[in-house]
Amino acid sequence: MLWLVPLFLLALRAVQAWSPTDSYAPGNVSCADDISLVREASGLSPNETAWLEKRDAYTKQALREFLDGATANFSNSSLVDSLWSADKIPRVAMAFSGGGYRAMLSGAGMISAFDNRTNGSTEHGLGGLLQGATYLAGLSGGNWLVGSLAWNNWTSVQHVIDTRGKDDELWDISNSIVNPGGINILSSASRWDQISDAVEAKQDAGFNTSLADVWGRALAYNFFPTLSKGGDGYTWSTLRDADVFKNGEMPFPISVADGRYPGTQIVDLNSTLFEFNPFEMGSWDPSLNAFTDVKYLGTNARNGTPVTKGQCVAGFDNTGFVIGTSSTLFNQFLLQLNTTSVSSFLKGIIGDFLKDLSEDYDDIAIYNPNPFRETEFVESNYTKGIVNSENLFLVDGGEDGENIPFVPLIQKERDVDVIFALDNSADTDEYWPAGLSLISTYERQFGAQGKDIAFPYVPDFDTFINEGLNQKPVFFGCDASNTTGLSYTPPLIVYMPNNRQSYNSNTSTFKMSYSSSQRMKMFQNGFEAVTRNNLTDDSSFRGCVACAVLRRKQESQNMTLPQECAKCFQDYCWNGKISNKTAKVSTIENYSGSISFITDSASADAASSTAAASSSGTSTSKKNAAASLPSSNSLKWYVAFASLLGMAIGLM
Ligand SMILES: *[C@@H]1O[C@H](CO)[C@@H](O)[C@H](O)[C@H]1NC(C)=O
Ligand SMILES: *[C@@H]1O[C@H](CO)[C@@H](O)[C@H](O)[C@H]1NC(C)=O
Ligand SMILES: *[C@@H]1O[C@H](CO)[C@@H](O)[C@H](O)[C@H]1NC(C)=O
Ligand SMILES: *[C@@H]1O[C@H](CO)[C@@H](O)[C@H](O)[C@H]1NC(C)=O
Ligand SMILES: *[C@@H]1O[C@H](CO)[C@@H](O)[C@H](O)[C@H]1NC(C)=O
Ligand SMILES: *[C@@H]1O[C@H](CO)[C@@H](O)[C@H](O)[C@H]1NC(C)=O
Ligand SMILES: *[C@@H]1O[C@H](CO)[C@@H](O)[C@H](O)[C@H]1NC(C)=O
Ligand SMILES: *[C@@H]1O[C@H](CO)[C@@H](O)[C@H](O)[C@H]1NC(C)=O
Ligand SMILES: *[C@@H]1O[C@H](CO)[C@@H](O)[C@H](O)[C@H]1NC(C)=O
Ligand SMILES: *[C@@H]1O[C@H](CO)[C@@H](O)[C@H](O)[C@H]1NC(C)=O
Ligand SMILES: *[C@@H]1O[C@H](CO)[C@@H](O)[C@H](O)[C@H]1NC(C)=O
Ligand SMILES: *[C@@H]1O[C@H](CO)[C@@H](O)[C@H](O)[C@H]1NC(C)=O
Repeated sequence: MLWLVPLFLLALRAVQAWSPTDSYAPGNVSCADDISLVREASGLSPNETAWLEKRDAYTKQALREFLDGATANFSNSSLVDSLWSADKIPRVAMAFSGGGYRAMLSGAGMISAFDNRTNGSTEHGLGGLLQGATYLAGLSGGNWLVGSLAWNNWTSVQHVIDTRGKDDELWDISNSIVNPGGINILSSASRWDQISDAVEAKQDAGFNTSLADVWGRALAYNFFPTLSKGGDGYTWSTLRDADVFKNGEMPFPISVADGRYPGTQIVDLNSTLFEFNPFEMGSWDPSLNAFTDVKYLGTNARNGTPVTKGQCVAGFDNTGFVIGTSSTLFNQFLLQLNTTSVSSFLKGIIGDFLKDLSEDYDDIAIYNPNPFRETEFVESNYTKGIVNSENLFLVDGGEDGENIPFVPLIQKERDVDVIFALDNSADTDEYWPAGLSLISTYERQFGAQGKDIAFPYVPDFDTFINEGLNQKPVFFGCDASNTTGLSYTPPLIVYMPNNRQSYNSNTSTFKMSYSSSQRMKMFQNGFEAVTRNNLTDDSSFRGCVACAVLRRKQESQNMTLPQECAKCFQDYCWNGKISNKTAKVSTIENYSGSISFITDSASADAASSTAAASSSGTSTSKKNAAASLPSSNSLKWYVAFASLLGMAIGLM
């Protein structure tokens, strides 16, 4: 009878948390007759508030441990004592930028430096800070990182390193997703068969699909290697039932995507910015001002009331799909086409192909039906474009130029004191970050969507380059008294840019495969980049990070700053100086306020994955391949997808 047990558990699992169909297709479930699926974004959700109580109890201890270690050398450590006895515990958040696999891998090295589970992190890193953090936001490649750690039972980068070469190794991207079987073409074909079947099943269940579904499915095999079919039935809301999350033993993960208005391709700082968290999906922006229960996405509802009483849909919030949504960067290819050096003949062909994609809305993630249909919370004077639309269209979270997911973390309601901004963007023409994402969020606060956000003063691109503010960690907004012109006191920003330590970590955003040793080098460089080279460049850096964490609460409580912090702030705070020279380095493309995805041709590895794509013989009918999802024709999808990536990587 023993064999019954696992079967029973499996069934229970499927019913409780996974997609009700235990596949990629969403399914009908019953829900309360009087259920309301939306709420106004007037504060934190009751569920987040309840969760925070548990997390706060955990971080109260964990952050204390980190700070006690980091301030051990201080002549006077009474600040920590005083804050803790007044129960004024700083709230820490971390934000991981986009930038494809570069951002995922370099970001992994960075997060490992904060994680006390990483070998050496407490001796020569910032180990324990992650345990003391409350929020963890990711965008695009950064969300691949956050999502795959969080939805794998809060695993660690150390565990990834320890399982290298094993079947359950996370992020085995030795082969690109286009050609996952490497030289084994049959294995690639069968993977693409599964993907095609999954997306088709969703379509057959009555939901619109797009290339973003294919993208999310394909990526998921790298993120959930232990789950059957890359976790085709694994849902985002499943995390609510995971003990490690329920007990507040991990930070609160947030994914970010941009809304695109129907009929337009423009995404800018006026776009509505969406967040996905384990409970909800929605936007704080005045142009939506609402959240919906993420578990019941796919339900046909009006102002949050299901059209069929007592019936909801579940399983739409597939984890791979949500992770893919944050990184649907296809339409950037189209918008940037004219600025590249591609010959006009090729531009024509590629342009047609991509235009078809875009006209068919194939390049964006389709959330249909729109969960916010006819909701009533849009503030007056803002367009009702989103709530009037049948579908919700979401694209890569970095397309508005904000490639670091700050916006969910600077909401006043979340009461964050310090944000560690891990920037693996490609801002310069050599694919290094240089503060452009900070500038965008800074500007957003003064725009139409910015009425409820605040972000500290930051300098321009030239200053970032000329003053070396992208070469080592820099603190922004060190003095709350200098932010009084803003709508409230924003968190202090600890900016940690990707920079070269032991490895050239400025790989292309579109590099689609990394060997095992390249992955290790990216991890190592990331660790070193955020620790001032394992504290060898500055042995007091860990203490300075402690000062940044303590700063806002110290200020608001009128407490005394330890004298060591004064020196730290001199060393690490941006001093307000603006450089008036033009930087010698240029931005990746003419920066116009909304750039983030950058095309590239220089990568040898990229070229090899392109070769794989084009050798599968595919000058066939590119236009047709893009038109609509073909029934049971995985080859066609394989071809369309491979050509798209191949063109992007190889030709631009
Ligand atoms: C779910 O319910 C809707 C509306 O009641 C119905 O049209 C649809 O066929 C159902 N789907 C499944 C898979 O039963
Ligand atoms: C990491 O920190 C947490 C919270 O303080 C603690 O419970 C755990 O034992 C630490 N783990 C290691 C390996 O030090
Ligand atoms: C820095 O520390 C990390 C993690 O312990 C380690 O992998 C790396 O080799 C160290 N770097 C140097 C230069 O010692
Ligand atoms: C999740 O991780 C914890 C701690 O490492 C472990 O005790 C637990 O069994 C894991 N749960 C699952 C479902 O793998
Ligand atoms: C945003 O909208 C405002 C007012 O509608 C407009 O003045 C501004 O130019 C827009 N900004 C961008 C970046 O499109
Ligand atoms: C919030 O928590 C309540 C009570 O536990 C639960 O019924 C509800 O489904 C949760 N809502 C969300 C959005 O998680
Ligand atoms: C690119 O340029 C062509 C001709 O100069 C123009 O027709 C087309 O609209 C442009 N495409 C984009 C996406 O700007
Ligand atoms: C809405 O716009 C009108 C005209 O532009 C303006 O007078 C009014 O103050 C605005 N209302 C709000 C709440 O912003
Ligand atoms: C404390 O000071 C000693 C000696 O100056 C130094 O070796 C050590 O790294 C310092 N520890 C911290 C946490 O700064
Ligand atoms: C800190 O000082 C300011 C100005 O002196 C005062 O308004 C504020 O209430 C004080 N805050 C605390 C927590 O004592
Ligand atoms: C804060 O304001 C003071 C006084 O205006 C100024 O001297 C100082 O440089 C400012 N600090 C920063 C970091 O901008
Ligand atoms: C740049 O700043 C320096 C010192 O503030 C000043 O002397 C110089 O004239 C400025 N140059 C330009 C081009 O504004």
